Amino acid sequence: MTIDQLRELVRTIPNYPKPGIQFRDVTTLLLHQQGLSETVERLAVSVADKPDLIAAIEARGFVVGAALAVRLGCGLLLIRKDGKLPGETIAEDYALEYGKDRLAMHIDACTIGQRVLIVDDLLATGGTALAAARLVRRVGGVITGARFVIDLPELGGGKALRADGIEVAALME
Ligand code: PRP
Ligand code: ADE
Repeated sequence: MTIDQLRELVRTIPNYPKPGIQFRDVTTLLLHQQGLSETVERLAVSVADKPDLIAAIEARGFVVGAALAVRLGCGLLLIRKDGKLPGETIAEDYALEYGKDRLAMHIDACTIGQRVLIVDDLLATGGTALAAARLVRRVGGVITGARFVIDLPELGGGKALRADGIEVAALME
């Protein structure tokens, strides 16, 4: 499949979840068997160095992150919305294109020096991915990069992540 064919599988819903937001809906891409496997394969070949862990961000990042972890042969670190993890956690606040939230991870989910690739479905302002990076770094993990299916470049997330020293790639804009 071409990137244009993959892009056509992403549905746009206007004014969700707030007026003025063009919501890029990956559920329609995930429904498509070939679209899903092509997405995972393209992300996999974009990763030159296999990390120890993929840090996948709730909720849509779990889907892509888990599939990529299986494909690359690495472990999966779940970064969740605060209040969902049963063990001892650390948390970080962040701002979103349409609000604010708090992410958390288990304090023992990553050990010092482990190499961690952040994965999510979409990069907008970068607030979510940067909060995930802060969590991983607080326990001594090393961020090797970040991968997204979709980048919304006008929202500046790619610039913000690169300014923080994070190597970034996305399959489509
Ligand atoms: C979306 C998306 C990313 C984040 C990107 O998640 O899946 O995680 O927004 O935005 P940012 O780059 O501006 O931080 P959302 O918070 O809507 O949660 P969901 O995956 O649980 O729907
Ligand atoms: N997360 C932040 N902004 C988004 C958008 N425009 N579409 C889908 N997910 C998003």
